Amino acid sequence: MDCNKFIEEQSAELKKTVGGGLAINALSGGVDSAVCTVLGHRALGKQLKTVFVDNAIMREGEPQRVVSAFAAMGIPVELVDARADFLGALKGLTDPEEKRKAITSTFYQMVFGKLVRESGAKFLVHGTILTDIEETVAGIKRQHNILAQLGIDPQKEYGYQVLEPLKTLRKDGVRAVAKALGMPDEMVHRIPFPGPALAARIVGEITEERLATVRKATAIVEEELKDSGAFQYLAVLLNDYATGIRNNQREFGQIIVVRCIESVDARTATATELPWKKLNRICERVVEIPGVNRCLYDLTPKPPATVEYV
Ligand code: XMP
Repeated sequence: MDCNKFIEEQSAELKKTVGGGLAINALSGGVDSAVCTVLGHRALGKQLKTVFVDNAIMREGEPQRVVSAFAAMGIPVELVDARADFLGALKGLTDPEEKRKAITSTFYQMVFGKLVRESGAKFLVHGTILTDIEETVAGIKRQHNILAQLGIDPQKEYGYQVLEPLKTLRKDGVRAVAKALGMPDEMVHRIPFPGPALAARIVGEITEERLATVRKATAIVEEELKDSGAFQYLAVLLNDYATGIRNNQREFGQIIVVRCIESVDARTATATELPWKKLNRICERVVEIPGVNRCLYDLTPKPPATVEYV
């Protein structure tokens, strides 16, 4: 693929569609929405307003990290605190699809819908990629970011048109475009992270306490595996408990699963053969998280497993 040609074509398309109007986009911190933001600002300049919605299910320090990284590229990002809205919508839900649906509707209808109305934007620039569309159409999973493909007309339902400049690319294509856009290396090579964020990694109910647990485990796994060269690595909190023993006391503790995969485009994946020493180190650190007394390494390829657990 000729990345520069892709950038030129998509920029021209964005300019043509938006005309003299205003567009808005939301950053999630992942590479897809990051590329959308840079591409969008290059094409639309001040006609694109970028927001980062803190939905309470982000990784440790993520909102501030993202805002500063974009400020360094000269792109202003507005931080919106919507933690209470999301936690309220997720309360009591345990079914994976119900949780994903709650995140989608809280985002689009409640939080983002309001932001769009207030801004007057008629266009939403979104980082949907080809894999999202294929998997949603195949009925494998409801990706949180696909509306048109699901037969939902955002214009009719929410009052704005969705523009998806990356919809013909897979993850490797997105990274190539990120590089061509001159984005910093750590952003270009950032491991994929799902739209539903840590909610995709909590089996069972999402509470502030359970989020804090998986957030700590995620920080450990990301720190330990940042030089592993793996495609993606993550931590998952199971909805199960196991007996353990600590300080001569019997305890019923939580279980964290560590997943680390090799993949090209996330359509298929295999578990990384991590060194035993590294696995032990991760395990030692994970079981120091309060309430956690087991750490498992997931060997399952995709298929039959998916990358995320929810
Ligand atoms: P799965 O779990 O479907 O994940 O095998 C494949 C790749 O997609 C990411 N993923 C998502 N990305 N919105 C996203 O933007 C989502 O709802 C979503 N669900 C999964 C996942 O991290 C992996 O890289």
